Amino acid sequence: MMDWTDRHCRYLLRLISKNVLLYTEMVTSRAITHGNREHLLGFDVSEHPVALQLGGSDAHELALCAKIGEDFGYDEINLNVGCPSDRVQAGAFGLCLMKSPDLVSECVAAMKAVVKIPVTVKTRIGVDDQDDYESLYAFIEKLIAVGVDQVTIHARKGWLKGLSPKENRTIPELNYPMVYRLKQDFPNLLIGINGGITNLTQAHEHLQFVDSVMLGRAAYHDAYVLAAVDQEFYGATVPIKTHQEVVEGFVDYIKAQGLEAKGVLRHAIGLYHGTPGARHWRQMLSAREVALSDLLAFSRDYK
Ligand SMILES: Cc1cc2nc3c(=O)[nH]c(=O)nc-3n(C[C@H](O)[C@H](O)[C@H](O)COP(=O)(O)O)c2cc1C
Repeated sequence: MMDWTDRHCRYLLRLISKNVLLYTEMVTSRAITHGNREHLLGFDVSEHPVALQLGGSDAHELALCAKIGEDFGYDEINLNVGCPSDRVQAGAFGLCLMKSPDLVSECVAAMKAVVKIPVTVKTRIGVDDQDDYESLYAFIEKLIAVGVDQVTIHARKGWLKGLSPKENRTIPELNYPMVYRLKQDFPNLLIGINGGITNLTQAHEHLQFVDSVMLGRAAYHDAYVLAAVDQEFYGATVPIKTHQEVVEGFVDYIKAQGLEAKGVLRHAIGLYHGTPGARHWRQMLSAREVALSDLLAFSRDYK
């Protein structure tokens, strides 16, 4: 998620679950070809498995970036076909690509031709007035024809005009059955579902119908929601990480990397979400000066 899931955020999430697949925020192919690659793509080895999400619509440029991503060590390349922001529309990629299925197929084919790691797509159930099942079906069929390895679908139609990206995260309504139907029709394609999923009980329910579940905002605002993922979904037998272990791990990381604590700790604001300590924790992290020793003491004393 743009401005949220940077490498420090991913490090924190990885402390909570060893197994969840983490995604970078969308990085545009133009930024990678013209910008500072280490800054844009560098990550800590502990973040594995981690997918690089690309934004773009130039097949040649995307293929180049997919290869660069693979060489950086990413485990998957994901193409964004769902972002409705004006900036992304101006660049003619993201959500508006749903209206150009042939171009998306061309981009996926170009990326698949140059990397060995999976090439996946994140998209929505529809865009603007193109919201019928047949259009979605035809789009996915084209992606399958070029060998897409997985499609994750945000079960909410995207709007290019009239709604802000923020509004479009809650409006219009989610339509999970449309994603389930896709899995029925394409049983051999790995299909993930996304949108409005806030806990592991819901994740289990979705997994009766699809192959994977993606959490966006919940994983950020309530990161500890991931705490039991390894045990519940991956068969881990080790105890669930405590808040204290997570805080200690993150503080160690901040110190070892010599990071400016305040900027990085914003990612941990929701760590105690839903617990009696949540308010106090948030206040500590929102203070002008944050003392790492206070955070350690809080997590040690917190029961
Ligand atoms: C601040 C913010 C930034 C986002 N940036 C991205 C992005 O870079 N790439 C992407 O595929 N989705 C992005 N999204 C959308 C989420 O990945 C997700 O599809 C959406 O929030 C619905 O899922 P959720 O209800 O689990 O949050 C973003 C969402 C938010 C709130």
